[in-house]
Amino acid sequence: MLRVGMLTSGGDCQALNATMRAIYKSVKHNAKEPVEIYGFIDGYKGLMYNNFKMLRGDDFASILTVGGTILGTSRTPFKDLDKPDEKGNDKVKLMKKTYKVLELDCLVVLGGNGSIKTANRLSEEGLNVIAMPKTIDNDLWGTDMTFGFQSAVDIATRCIDEIHTTASSHGRVFIVELMGHKTGWLPLNAGIAGGADIILLPEIPYDLNQVVKVVENKKTSNDGHFMIIVVAEGAMSKEDRKLSKKEYKERLSQYMYPSVSYKLAAEIEELTGREVRVTVPGHTQRGGAPDAYDRVFASRLGSEAGKLICDGKYGYMVAYKNREIIKVPLKEVAGKLKLVQPDASIIEQARMLGISFGDEQE
Ligand code: F6P
Repeated sequence: MLRVGMLTSGGDCQALNATMRAIYKSVKHNAKEPVEIYGFIDGYKGLMYNNFKMLRGDDFASILTVGGTILGTSRTPFKDLDKPDEKGNDKVKLMKKTYKVLELDCLVVLGGNGSIKTANRLSEEGLNVIAMPKTIDNDLWGTDMTFGFQSAVDIATRCIDEIHTTASSHGRVFIVELMGHKTGWLPLNAGIAGGADIILLPEIPYDLNQVVKVVENKKTSNDGHFMIIVVAEGAMSKEDRKLSKKEYKERLSQYMYPSVSYKLAAEIEELTGREVRVTVPGHTQRGGAPDAYDRVFASRLGSEAGKLICDGKYGYMVAYKNREIIKVPLKEVAGKLKLVQPDASIIEQARMLGISFGDEQE
């Protein structure tokens, strides 16, 4: 009997179900013995407290196109992995116990940065672990792409598309705040796809005066008098970068909604006299069905994961490099963030299209 444990951890995204379905199908195809799949409920919590459901063929039918996760997810335990739980139990020991009691042959973790750190820890503790690169943020080291990312870019782009008409009718400056945590992959790609005038990213601290200059110049150009600014939720001005975390939080707390976009909107209104509106698509970016790209991508990743499991190759994250599905040792990935490089060709190309990153020196 081949016993495979599976869990989805961290913020959800599109194609979690599609990935699990592909792993199941591939394991069934490649295994030389009967297979049992144990699906842990709500991420690592399920593994800690032995809360699982047996997953059978029927559970995987019709979920290719369904967003979210049939297993539920949680962010427990990330930063506090080494703190005992409410009853004073060691969390890693609890997980190892469940793994042992159920006589699992391996554990598959579908997760982002925090989840993969825990996966690596379990691997170091002797468990057979495979990780799958999940997140709309695309910020995982060791892979060119994560599943969920392309679907989120599609949703964010549609949001920008819809803002165009109302921005144009009213001649307004619109700020669209997009997710991405500490990185700018999602805002960068959706910003280019949606025809943004300015894109502000965490990796490129912006200068407020430069942003204002671009807004004022567009007002007098032939390009029309509306403007779309895409702001990453983690973007920060050069000035704000000098503040401590506490000081920055205090500064944001003056605004209706304590985020960089509302602060920037108030500043632009004050300095230009233009009407500025903010739109935050928020968790819609993680919602709904995976797009076609993600369905294919998740299917390829899951297919290779199933093969690794049946070949007994563990301690890896399944990844995507140069258009191929590869495996990367978990220890090489854990704890590292993949940032947008300010000198990357995509940034240069965007600049040549006239997109400002709010850092230009004239
Ligand atoms: O990591 C995915 C993500 O959606 C980030 O882009 C965002 O910063 C965060 O999760 C939001 O987390 P929560 O769902 O806990 O509000």
